[in-house]
Amino acid sequence: MKIVMLGAPGAGKGTQAKRIAEKYGIPHVSTGDIFRANIKNGTDLGKEAKTYMDEGKLVPDELTVRILLDRVAQDDCKNGYVLDGFPRTIPQAEVLDGELKKLNEKIDFAINVDVPDDNIVNRMGGRRACLKCGATYHMTHLPPKTEGICDSCGSELVLRDDDKPETVKKRLAVYHEQTQPLIDFYSKQGVLKTVDGTVDAEDVFRAITDILDKN
Ligand code: AP5
Ligand code: MG
Repeated sequence: MKIVMLGAPGAGKGTQAKRIAEKYGIPHVSTGDIFRANIKNGTDLGKEAKTYMDEGKLVPDELTVRILLDRVAQDDCKNGYVLDGFPRTIPQAEVLDGELKKLNEKIDFAINVDVPDDNIVNRMGGRRACLKCGATYHMTHLPPKTEGICDSCGSELVLRDDDKPETVKKRLAVYHEQTQPLIDFYSKQGVLKTVDGTVDAEDVFRAITDILDKN
């Protein structure tokens, strides 16, 4: 099963993708997490990506596509994956489609987690992220069992550098301009499913599993 998560920054793509990955036994592939891991490790890729991410801009397609295609070519992805944060532009989606066609494969579901901009800005300040395993928490909505520590891997939780309110607003503008057109793109392919992302994370997950199990 190959799934793409769509939705604005902070809509809950990562939160849901992690749960989908666990339930269906497929890897959670997040380009944002890959970039943040590289920033943490001080790699050249991380240094380059950081200049864009800190300004709320997209990392150039060429670089992002290369990283994503390398990742999905790995062995653990052969039975499917859940992509979180990719594709984010029409050219990225077209490259992915082209690569899948060569293998006689396609995206099975594009899950659009729908949350209005007003809710997003409120959510981001309370988010805490694990840079090691990619888990995300919220100080009030989804707190970890021990404050400041990741439930999944025990690492320290941090506030992401791009979660400052001005940067969040910039990311939202970039989303509407460059990423929202993907809703139409996947709708035309007949694989788009939209869920209400404003309800409790458990209920969002239930709506998603209903879709995945029914089809
Ligand atoms: P990325 O890491 O993908 O960030 P994003 O899309 O901006 O999305 P977020 O991770 O901020 O939000 P999310 O939807 O995963 O929400 P979450 O589950 O954490 O990308 C970061 C940057 O990397 C980009 O800006 C870009 O520069 C670069 N990049 C990455 N991919 C790229 C690409 N393909 N091309 C070019 N550049 C790329 O939830 C948010 C918060 O809300 C959390 O605190 C969570 O606990 C809470 N929450 C979740 N669900 C609920 C709920 N139902 N109710 C209440 N709270 C909830
Ligand atoms: Mg995320």
